[in-house]
Amino acid sequence: MSKLLEVNSLSLSIHSKNGLVNPLQGVGFHLNKNEIVGLIGESGCGKSLTAQSMLQLWPQGSIIKSGEIIFEGQNIINLSDKEMEKIRGNKIGMIFQDPNLTLNPTMKIGSQLTEGVRLHKRLPKSEAWKRAEEWLSKVGIRDPSQRMQQYPHQLSGGMKQRVMIAMAMICSPSILIADEPTTALDVTIQAQILELFKMLRDEHQTSILLITHDLGVVARCCDRVLVMHQGKIIESSSVEQLFAAPQTRHAQALLSAKRSLMIC
Ligand SMILES: Nc1ncnc2c1ncn2[C@@H]1O[C@H](COP(=O)(O)OP(=O)(O)OP(=O)(O)O)[C@@H](O)[C@H]1O
Ligand SMILES: [Mg+2]
Repeated sequence: MSKLLEVNSLSLSIHSKNGLVNPLQGVGFHLNKNEIVGLIGESGCGKSLTAQSMLQLWPQGSIIKSGEIIFEGQNIINLSDKEMEKIRGNKIGMIFQDPNLTLNPTMKIGSQLTEGVRLHKRLPKSEAWKRAEEWLSKVGIRDPSQRMQQYPHQLSGGMKQRVMIAMAMICSPSILIADEPTTALDVTIQAQILELFKMLRDEHQTSILLITHDLGVVARCCDRVLVMHQGKIIESSSVEQLFAAPQTRHAQALLSAKRSLMIC
């Protein structure tokens, strides 16, 4: 399998109110074409910062101590803002956990959906609009033309999540990063969205980095799993391998925590 993106020895420190913290300490992993990779680990281990780093979305006070992020043969860790804008949302899409942070409450869905594709692909408004409607249909939103005219508050939580997926996919990125995309959703919608991710992998050859704390999501959706602990990736396994014979004590602990929850 060919590598689409590779992160090597990524270390990040942040000057915070409580002094200097070192949340990423030599993160290394890769994504192949056409696979869904789960990223799991306890709260605060560095999953979101790892994802944000792939798009240079670092919190204030961040210092990159070391590392490289190789995408399409180029180290993108030090690209200028202008160069990064060509990648962000275009070649690498991201879905954040909270739709309310991504969707602008004062803009209609249609304008928000078409903004990126008009900018990156230089499509005329009518074509961008058509493409947005197609993506809304693909993510299972009925009456897309009507929804395009609405504001975010007129949509349910599940619909907003789908709109964010459509927005992340409209430029056909080769990588989609999804940070806890289904945590806030009920199980039926969650299942539909996981099916959608599989459709993106199978029909659009998208590679997806799926951050989740839910091992059920990993089992249903992922091809491979990265286990993170205290700012490092400590294990990379196929899903079967992880559940049958986790390599690290820490992965074993995550699995047994899940099993005891299931027993309760
Ligand atoms: N802006 C910031 N300033 C200071 N420390 C931060 C900042 N953002 C994150 N951190 C710290 O970095 C560590 C990793 O944070 P991160 O958000 O990546 O964790 P996470 O694995 O995504 O956790 P969760 O599962 O709770 O979302 C945490 O200890 C967090 O407190
Ligand atoms: Mg997080």
